[in-house]
Formats: sequence, C-alpha cells, structure tokens
Amino acid sequence: MSRFLIRGGRVLDPACGRDERGDVLVEDGVIVAVDAAIETRGAEILDAEGLWVAPGFVDLHTHLREPGQEYKEDIASGGRAAVAGGFTSVACMANTDPVNDDPSVTDYILDRARQDSPAQVYPVAAATKGLAGEVMTEMVALVGAGAVAFSDDGKTIMDSGVMRRVLEYSKLVERPVITHAEDRTLVGDGVVNEGPISTRLGLPGNPAVAETVHVSRDVTLAEETGAHLHIAHISTAGGVAQVRAARERGAHITAEVTPHHLTLTDEATTAYDTNTKMAPPLRSQADVRACREALADGTIDAIATDHAPHAVHEKEVEFTAAPPGIIGFETAFAVVMDLVREEALSPLDLISRLSTAPAQILGLEAGSLAVGAPADVAVVDPARRWTYDTTKGHSKSRNSPWDGGALEGRVLATIVGGRLVYHADRGVLAP
Ligand code: DOR
Repeated sequence: MSRFLIRGGRVLDPACGRDERGDVLVEDGVIVAVDAAIETRGAEILDAEGLWVAPGFVDLHTHLREPGQEYKEDIASGGRAAVAGGFTSVACMANTDPVNDDPSVTDYILDRARQDSPAQVYPVAAATKGLAGEVMTEMVALVGAGAVAFSDDGKTIMDSGVMRRVLEYSKLVERPVITHAEDRTLVGDGVVNEGPISTRLGLPGNPAVAETVHVSRDVTLAEETGAHLHIAHISTAGGVAQVRAARERGAHITAEVTPHHLTLTDEATTAYDTNTKMAPPLRSQADVRACREALADGTIDAIATDHAPHAVHEKEVEFTAAPPGIIGFETAFAVVMDLVREEALSPLDLISRLSTAPAQILGLEAGSLAVGAPADVAVVDPARRWTYDTTKGHSKSRNSPWDGGALEGRVLATIVGGRLVYHADRGVLAP
C-alpha cells in the first residue's frame, strides 16, 4: 500500500469550499483524509508549509499534436509539460494528422497516453469529418472509444445547418460541443486584432465582431436545441456579453479564457513577434478587462491554456506566414496568479477556474480534494519567483511570449493518481 502525506499546506478545494491550513493523506491513489493535523506512520511526507495544496489542474483545451505532428509535440512530451505546470488532466483537440474523427484515432491517443503520459489525457473528437465543417462524425462510436467532447477547434463550423445538427446529436451522447467562435468571413486574412495596432503594423486585422457574431449564432442554436455549448478561448467584450446574456436566460453555455487573453493585449504584437500570434488574436485593453470581469463573476467558468506547440522553423518567418498559437502549460499558473495579486480573483476562485470548473464541464472525475476522490494534486508556491527558459521546458516547442521572462508563482509538485509525477527539484519522475 502506498501512502503519501502532504503536510501543513494551505488546502484550497473549491469542490468542498475549503480554504484552510491542513494535511492531505493519500492512500493507493485516493484521498483518504483531509484534516488540520493527521497523525500517520509509514507515509512518504511532502512538506507543504507555506505552499498551496490544490486539486490538480484540468486543461480542457490543448494540442498534443500526436498523431502526425510529433516534431512539434507528442503525447509523452505534452504530458510531461502538463504535469510540470500542475495539470493532472488535459483534453486534447482533434486537429491532429489524421484528424481525430474516427474511433481508431481516439483509441490510438488513449493507448499512447496510457503508456507515455504522466498526465491523464482525454481526447476531444472532431465534430465534422476532417474538420471540414460538412459531414458530422459518428458521435456514438467516438464516445464509445473515449471522446469527452466534440470540436472542430482551429476551424470554425460555418454552416449553421451542420452546427445545429452537431448540437442536436451531442445531446444524445450527453457531451459538450466546443466551438471555435470566429466567423471566417469576417476574419478574412486578419492576423492581429483589427484596430489602431493593426493599422500601425500594416497587418491585416481580425475584427472583434468576428467573435461576437459567431458566439451569437452558436448561443442561439444551443438555446434552440437545448445542447451544452462550450465557447473556446473567448477574447472579446462582445463575446462575453453574448455568453452572459444567454446564461441569464438559462442556456447551457460554458466558456473558457486563456492566460494570454487575460494578461496580454495587441500592444504585445508591436515587435512583430510571431509568439504573440494566435487565433483568436490578442485583443484590446477593454476586451482584456471584460474577460477578467467575466472570469471573476463566473460568466467565464474556466481557464484553458490552448497549449499550441509549433516548431521554431515554423514560427521564425514573417508574421503573416507563421501558424497561430503558443505553448502554455508551464507558465499558466504563474501568469494567471496576476489576477490574485491584483485581487481580481480569490485564490479559491482561481483554483476553481483552473481545476474544478473545467472538470465539471467535461464531466471528469477530477477537480476535487474530497475524501474518496482520485489523488490528483498540485502543490504550488504562489510567491516563488523564477525565470522561464523554454530550452529547459518539457515541451518539444518553444513558442512562448514569456520565454526569458520573470514570473511569480511556481508549481513545485504534481501528483497523479497518488503518484508523485513531478517535483520542481527532481523534474518529471514518471512514467
Ligand atoms: O492559436 C491557435 N492555435 N488557435 C487555434 O484555435 C488552433 C491552435 C493550433 O492548433 O495551433
């Protein structure tokens, strides 16, 4: 029997509303006690004095690139980067090669994950064949193989008839549909937020209204069908207003925001750094403010990294030619700690957005430190200062705007299923 005592930390468990100093005892992969002081013999001790002890983070939006683009990332390297960032469960998007639109691909991903990944991996299957937005995938078979949600992320389903059918069928399998809400006809060839910055840079603009219009359409269809719609990487005040209004009407809408859309504006793109290029693009200060407010008031449920690895040779090209996306696992906690430092979010609410809420959206048995829950735990130092160096990171890719940056807040240990899989001093320890 394996026993683990995490001693003396600030236990932050949104699932139980707990925020108090205490000990957490783990036995055989399960949390067996959480109390002010636990006396036990023969347990391995993890000293958490001065640290936060939280349910492991759950990232419901990542790109692990396997199968097909292993030069950017694979399930092993992505899983290692995830646990180094405190993520114990990650959902991976379907824009692999081949696309995850067939149960054989879902099977493959889960098989690789079981062998190679220290983090739990949950495949998101494509909503349409080949992400082409035309023919629906076989949802029942995909759920049977282990898909937890459906999404054409990276591409927008532009055909409203197809989207309506996808939402209708998703109810049968009781899984959310995750929408990449950018109206492609409005995005055009836009690569940065449309506004003074795009004009100054001489780069084609992607207008905020592209998101507002698409969120509006998808929310309308979700209300009509009664399906659970989840909005990926929301980035605009207009999109947020649509979600807020729909939720007030009682629609089953959830939403996520990325660390970068919470902390960076289009000002960051002024050096033409392709590591500030993503889809949707970094927006204005007013949009960032709206996303922060919505995260604080619960209109936005979850923080998701949209970890999107791309190789150096792909990013070291002119801005218009570079693929969109940045890596995010290893910096997420430090970056979003900004909101706690600025008192925009309480520590318990931050952990809820990083763990409990995304687990609930995907229906995962995660995001809780309750007795009987799987022992997935993140132990973090909210005040530790460190310098991020992508060459020392665990991802195969280096496309981060925070490379070389001074950060505050660090993941010190990650436990998955009762096993210590990451320790800041010892690195990734398993599998
Ligand atoms: O920036 C992005 N990169 N946004 C997406 O939706 C897709 C992702 C990718 O796959 O690289």
